[in-house]
Formats: sequence, structure tokens, C-alpha cells
Amino acid sequence: MDCPRCGRENPAGARFCNACGTVLADPGAAREVRKTVTVLFCDVVGSTELASRSDPEVMRGVMARFYAAIREPVERHGGTVEKVIGDALVAVFGIPVVHEDDALRAVRAALEMRDAVRGLGEIQARIGVNTGDVLARDATPGESLVVGDAVNVAARLEQAAAPGEVLVGEATWALVAHAAHGELAPPVAAKGKARPLVAWRLEGVDAAARGHRRRLDLPMVGRDAELDMLRWSLERTIRLERPHLVTVLGQPGIGKSRLASEVRRLRADVTVLHGHCRATTGSSLEPLLEVAGGIAPGDRDLGEAIVEAMPGDGDAAAVAAGLAPGGARGAPDIAWAASRLIGTLAGAGTVAVVLEDVHWADDLLLDVVEQLLGRSRGRALLVVCTGRPEFAERRPTWGSGANAVSILLERLDADQTRTLISHASPSLPPDRAEYVIDAAEGNPLFAEHLAALFAEGEASGGLPRSIQVLLTARIEALPEAEREVVGAAAIVGREFPVQAVEAVLGRPVDAELDRLEGRELIEPTAPARRQFGHALLQEAAYSLIPKRHRAELHELVARWADRNGGGDALVGDHLGRAASLRLELGLAGDHAARIGAEAGRRLLAAGRRADALGDPLRATRLLRRALELLPEGGPDQAAAMVELVAAGWNVVPFDERLDLLERGAETAAANGLRGLELRARVLRLGTLPETGPSALTEEEILAQTKAALAELEQVDDPRAFATSLCTLGDIELSLGRAAAATTAARRAIRVAQAADEDAVWAVKLFLYAVIESPTGVAEAEQFLRGLLRELGMRPAVRSQLAQGQAVLAILRGGDDGWRLLETAREIERDLGRSTSWSLRTTAVRMHLLAGEHDAVIRAMPPILAELDRDGADANAAVMRSWLAVAQARAGDLAAARETAAAALAGTTYGGSYETGGRANLALAEAHLADGDARAAARAARDAAAVAETGDWVLMRAEVRLARARALQASGDTAGAAAQARGALELSRAKGHAAGTAAAEALLRSLAGAPG
Ligand SMILES: Nc1ncnc2c1ncn2[C@@H]1O[C@H](COP(=O)(O)OP(=O)(O)OP(=O)(O)O)[C@@H](O)[C@H]1O
Ligand SMILES: [Mg+2]
Repeated sequence: MDCPRCGRENPAGARFCNACGTVLADPGAAREVRKTVTVLFCDVVGSTELASRSDPEVMRGVMARFYAAIREPVERHGGTVEKVIGDALVAVFGIPVVHEDDALRAVRAALEMRDAVRGLGEIQARIGVNTGDVLARDATPGESLVVGDAVNVAARLEQAAAPGEVLVGEATWALVAHAAHGELAPPVAAKGKARPLVAWRLEGVDAAARGHRRRLDLPMVGRDAELDMLRWSLERTIRLERPHLVTVLGQPGIGKSRLASEVRRLRADVTVLHGHCRATTGSSLEPLLEVAGGIAPGDRDLGEAIVEAMPGDGDAAAVAAGLAPGGARGAPDIAWAASRLIGTLAGAGTVAVVLEDVHWADDLLLDVVEQLLGRSRGRALLVVCTGRPEFAERRPTWGSGANAVSILLERLDADQTRTLISHASPSLPPDRAEYVIDAAEGNPLFAEHLAALFAEGEASGGLPRSIQVLLTARIEALPEAEREVVGAAAIVGREFPVQAVEAVLGRPVDAELDRLEGRELIEPTAPARRQFGHALLQEAAYSLIPKRHRAELHELVARWADRNGGGDALVGDHLGRAASLRLELGLAGDHAARIGAEAGRRLLAAGRRADALGDPLRATRLLRRALELLPEGGPDQAAAMVELVAAGWNVVPFDERLDLLERGAETAAANGLRGLELRARVLRLGTLPETGPSALTEEEILAQTKAALAELEQVDDPRAFATSLCTLGDIELSLGRAAAATTAARRAIRVAQAADEDAVWAVKLFLYAVIESPTGVAEAEQFLRGLLRELGMRPAVRSQLAQGQAVLAILRGGDDGWRLLETAREIERDLGRSTSWSLRTTAVRMHLLAGEHDAVIRAMPPILAELDRDGADANAAVMRSWLAVAQARAGDLAAARETAAAALAGTTYGGSYETGGRANLALAEAHLADGDARAAARAARDAAAVAETGDWVLMRAEVRLARARALQASGDTAGAAAQARGALELSRAKGHAAGTAAAEALLRSLAGAPG
């Protein structure tokens, strides 16, 4: 087989080109897709009995009628009859192409099949319906189309159904619940299943329901300008008595129908008529019949309504005949009748025709609409069409006539999405809501469905099946060449270099990408780079690729990335996925082991680098993944275990850290890596619990750490030495010794600098410590300027330093803090880290210092969610202590108390000083605000008992202020003044402007107080 890319001849059956690695076409494999389909089994009951007393010829006639009766609804609803097993017919909805409403089609067909069989007498159908992922091949006659558990479940449901009954599986029910009614049936036991199957007895389906749940009942969010355009068009239609056309375009779920539905509310004196175009089924002018039918709502007779609406018009009877429901007429008759009717109505009053989903409209229908608009004078007719972006491509001249406007609906912004979620799922906790806002990317439908999924208690943020079905249907509707491009791109990532896709497919893809851009599935980001219009779209495209094929493609992408400077993280990620997929498919072998180990090494290197650049969360994720892939017992595994603890100091759960360090030290020793072993030991010292039988005293911990450091200084491993110094600093800092921590950090910076290592962690430790330490703000700022001169050419360090300067500026009371943070943000953006962890926490810290409590409260939920998800208890406890302070100061006392309690409960070694101080401070402030001076004094004393064991100046000053206020409230003016003076002294020496002012103000009020 010749390689399509380089022309090299390859042995038959080769899957990759020996010369360039391109995938060689394997028609079988390539045409296999994973998809979500709905499977329907329909069996006939009574046939054996019937057969025993019937003549075989009669019997054959009955069965033939049975199959005809059940086949027809399947096909009319766009399903495929796959085969007949015994007496049972198997139909699949979603083959050859997926429709976004396959599940609904299937249940509609099921009911119609049941009723059709009932009409035959003597026999009854029993039907099982279920939805799931299957592996499907292109239709080859006689061959099974689908394989997957969904098929077995549908069969089982059918067997369990009573005669005349339709049982629907859980997955299907979730997709049709908005439209179907029925009741929960007894669970169905199934072989090989741990739990019995959930089954619903289907009773009916709402005829008007669309593919999935949409809520037009909730308040409208945003879209003011778009509504103005609609209103303007309607007013102009009325004033000029000429037809106007508004075409509303946008992605699925973006809110086209919602906007169009507002037409009804614009004016009371407008007749609004609706028509929907559908993906298949029915005649092409059906939407026009629907529009016409709108003039006779409810049970009214359409013919009568038409005659009434066209008084004295000689054509009225013919129009009525042309539009009669169920009538058999040709398209020209329908077109003529509908045009006449709408024209007459629009001549007499104002008419708005809303024609939905015109991307599915037939050309004939669109021609009719254009003609209707063209006949202009004396008609107050507004036509509002909704359609997806591909419509513009299909019918480029649409809307180019006079009095036509197009509205392209863009995403909602984050605040609007938040509002929408608060209407749709009011009980959703804020952190979940933030996640949904993020994942929905401004698409209202996605936001609603994701929020509903979470509100139902779903834990993970996976793709809701309703949305997956919607998105995969769009992808499946693409021509083959474009679908291939989308698939290869989905492997590369949400954002992808065009070249990577070309390398994988071995051909240019510009033409396809242009068309995909026209459909707004893909959008350009930078020269030669594109991205999926929505992250969920990439996920859906990915889900369509069979796993085996995914494994091959990931490996190809890894090789391409490696050749093109893709970096360790990227190469390791793709190789790692390839290896894991192979394992999952039971294809473990030399090849899988080799690429797994290579992936692990690359991810280890990337994790180290991320750590050195000061990105602990990223580093932790990379290193965890590396550990999953690296071979057991080797030096790389030892290094990864130790690096993981070092990078994830505040992120990796306590027990896991202990375990990793123990095994890491052993494995390092077994491989003769003394530096690594010592580093593990130092980290182990920093991880020791403060209680328990084997507890070391603080002094012992420090002594042992220093001894290990002394030996490390002799081993030539500057990374181990520098990071161990940081551990020492961390230990000091967590014990409340900020000054000692700055000393250790400075030493670490020097060691790292000498070894030409990026030492962001050391700089970060220094900054955190120096802000709290007794070092004055002015001196700290000067020191930072020095560091900036020496280390500032490294962007990651520069960003850290700018963040440190920003915090110091706030302390100084200057107004350049936020500008400095913006500088840091720009640097991070250039580094490709738009939401770096340290930036987010720095911003929160600045808000807290600046007294912007609401900003702290708003920023915290996603931060906490992330920390909790990663099991970063100590860090989460510290963040909760900040949050509690903000809540107390914002007046949300109940929340403050709850958060403070959670912070104290979550405290582990390595944060108890800060958490203990701040959480108690928050409690004191909350009690004070509540007017409970005694409780406030008690909490303030608790806070002081912690804070005064260390040298953290800002916290100690705040605690003293809180004590002073508590004493003041209980009438002890002298005691209060003493505490306030203490606070003033600390704040002044630090150079903390706001703290100084607060202490001074308190002292003034105390001086003015009677007694
Ligand atoms: N501005 C909005 N305010 C409140 N809800 C909205 C808004 N826009 C959309 N929604 C809601 O989001 C969901 C999806 O919107 P809608 O059905 O209008 O999307 P669509 O663009 O018509 O999608 P499709 O192309 O699939 O038909 C609906 O439940 C709708 O009520
Ligand atoms: Mg719509």
C-alpha cells in the first residue's frame, strides 16, 4: 500500500507508513465510529399460540403485516431496521447518521409501533428502548451494525415488557423525560449486571416537544440590543406596510428560539404564527402547514378559520383545501395556499411568522418564503427565521433583499450566564455554578443542562449526554473529509496547529477548515492555529473516535509535536494517552510499555519545569500522571515521587505525601541517588505531624533538617540543596517564623541562581514570608528591586516579583498595586498561563488587604473547589481562614462562623499558625459585629495565643486590634488602648498604612470615650 503522504510503498496490512509514520488507510477501522444511538427491540407476543392454531399460510400473512406495521414508523422517524432476530425486530436510531433527537424519535416510533400492532388484532408488541454508546460500522448489508451494552439492555427490556408495553431504559428516559410521560416500572434483573436495570413504562409523548429540554419559561437574560432590532423591524413593518425579514443566526443552544419567542411580547396586536423545520421526515413544506395551522388554535376547525380570515375572497375555499391537515396535495398547491393566506392576513393586520431552524429547510420552502417577502406593498409582515451558522453558507443570498437584517447571536458573558443559572437552578452551590459558567462558555443551553446535571447531584463535570448528542449530530452531519479533520483536530486539542492535523491526516486541510469556520465549528486563533468553537465540541468530536484509533492518532500527534518543538508536557501527554488507551483495550505489549515509559519521563521533566516556574498545580498534575506511567522501581519513579511532594507541598494530601516520601527515599537509595534520598528525608521532616507517639519537637525537626542540609551541601545536587532549603523555610514559616523563613529563602535563591536553576519557589517563599515578616515595607521593596535586577530576565520570576511588589504597594497604601498585578498578569499570559494559581491568590490577598471583601468572597469558591478537589487540605484551610475574615467584615456573620469552623477543622500541620490565627480572628470579628463582646474577647485571645507564638506582623497587628475592640466593647478602655497601641506599633514599624490608620482611629475613639 502506497503512503498517501510520502509515496513510500509499505507492506500490505501496515497501519503506519514505515517512512513517515502517516496512518495508512484501513477502510475497516477508519470507518468505525463510536456513537450514541438509541436501540429499539420489538417482539410479537402471541405468535406461538397463534401459530399452533393457525394455518401456516395465515400465520405468514399475519407476520408479514406485523413487520410492515412496525417497520413503517421506524423508517418514518429516521431510524434504521437493523435485523430480525427470531420474531424480534431490531431498529437503531442514529445510524447511518445521528440526529440530535434520536431518543425522542425512537420513543415516538415505539408508541406508534405498539398502536399499529394493536390494530392488527390477536397479536401484541412488546418493546424495549435504550440509549448508549456503541461501536458502529458503515452499513454493510447482512452485517451487524452496532455492538455495545446498549443493545443488550434494550433486548433485556423488551423481554421484560408485558404485551402491549414499551419499556424505556434509564439513559433514554433522561433524554426524553421533558417530552414523555410514563411511570417507573419494577427494576429488571439482567445477567452480568451488578444492579438491576431501571426501566420506565412509556405511556405517551408530547407531540409538540422538541429534541431536548428547553426552558422558555425563565426570565430573559441580556439580549437588549437584539430585542431592539426585532422591535425596530416590527415597528417599521407596521409603519411602512412592507414585509421585513429578520434572520437570527447562531450556534445550537445560543438562544435563537428564545429570542424569536419574544416577538410575541413586543406588541399585543400582532398575529404570531410558528413553523419548525426538522432534520428529516415529512414533506418539505410541512413547516408552512404548521404556520397556517396557527390561525386556528386549539380545536378550532382550520377550514372555517381560513374562510373567516379571508372574507369575500373567492380563493378562500381553495386555500382551505390546500392547507387542510392530512390532505393530499402537491407542493405548488401548498405554497400557493400558504402565500395567499399569509398575504391576506398581513394585508388586514400585522402578522409575524417565526420560522425556526431554517438550516433544515428545503430550498423549495425558502423560495416560497422569499417570494412571500418579495410581494411587498400594503403588507405588514415580519418574518423571523432562526438558523445555525451553516445556513449562511448554504444559502449565501438569503437576506440580501431590501428590509432584511441578520442577527448573529454571540455568547452570553459570565455575569449573564450566572444570572441565567440562578434562574434555572437556583439551588446550585456557587462553586458549582462557577464551574458551569466556565464550562458553558456563554452558551445558555449548555449552562442550563450542566447546571441541571449538577443540581441532580452528579459529581463529575462530564459532558451531559443531551449536549453530547446535540454536538455529535452536528459533527456527523459533516461531509466525510471535514469530519476527518474535526476528528484529527480533536485529538490534538481544543486549540490546534493546522500543521499537526495535516501531519496526522497526511494531506492539506485548508479547504475543510475554511468550511468548518463557515459553520463556526472552528475558529482561527493565531496564524496557522485554529480552535474548536467550544470546548464541549472538541470533547464530543473526540468521543466519536474509536479508542484504538485514538491511541494511534495520539502517538502520531506526539511524534509530530516532538519534531516541532512541542515540549515535554505535550509529547508526554499524547504518548501517555496512547499508552493508557492501549492498556485499556488489552493491547499491553512491548510497544505500550515503551511509549508509557517514554511518556512518564517526558512528563517528569515537564513537571519539574512547571515546579521550577512556580506553578504547583500544573506541576502536581504532570507529576501524578508521570507516576502512573513510569516503570516501577527505577530512578525516574523515585525522582517523580519526591518531585511530586516538593511541588505539591500544599496540594498533595498528608498521608499520600508520607507514603510518597518513604517509597521515594527507598527507591532513591536503591538506585544510589544520595542527593535525592536526602531531599526526600528533608521533605519528610517538613511533613511530620505535630502530634502522635513518634512526634518530634519543633527543635528536633529543625535540627535534623539542618543536619541533612549540611550533608546535602557536600553532595553535588544544587536542585536538591536549594529545594531542601525551601523546605526548611516552609517549616519555619508554618511555625510562624517569617523572618527565619526569609533567610532560608534567600539562601535557596542564591544556590539556585549559582546552579542556573529557575528558582520561582524560592522567590515565592521569600515573598510570602517577607510580607508577613517584621521586615519593613520600604526595605522589602528595595530588596525586591535588587532581585528584579538580578533575576528579572526570567519572566516567571519577574511575574512573581511584580506580584510581591503589588502586595507591598497595597500595604504601603500606594495606588500602583493593581497596575503591578496587571503587569504580572500580562507576563503570565505570555507564558500561556492566563489563570495561574499564584496570580489568583495574590489578587485575593490584595483584595483582603484593601478591604474589598466582596471581591474576596466572589473569588474564593472556584479556588476552594480546586483545592478541595486536589485534596489540598492545608491550603484550603488557609484560604478558608481568609474567606472567613472577609465574610465577617462584609457582615455575613453566619457564613463567617461556618467558614472559620471549617478552616479550623481542616487544619493540618503546615498551616496551623496562619489558619489558627486568622480563623479565630474572623470569629472574634463576627462576634463583635454581633454585639457579643465576651465571645469576641475569647476568640481574640485564642487568635493571639496562636499569633504571638510567631513573628507574623500583619496578623498580630490585626489580632491586637480585634482584642482592643473586644475590650472596648466590654468597657475596658485602658486594656483596649494598650492593645491598640501594640497594633499601632507593629503596623507603623511594618509601614502598613491601612493598619496604622485603623489603630490610630481606634486610639482616637478610645481617647474620646468617657471613662
Ligand atoms: N437570553 C436568554 N435568557 C434566558 N434564557 C435563555 C436565553 N437564551 C437562551 N436561553 C435558554 O437556553 C436554552 C437554549 O436556547 P434556545 O433553544 O433558544 O437555543 P437555540 O439557539 O434556538 O438552539 P437550537 O439551534 O438548538 O435550536 C433555552 O432553554 C432557552 O430558554
Ligand atoms: Mg432553536
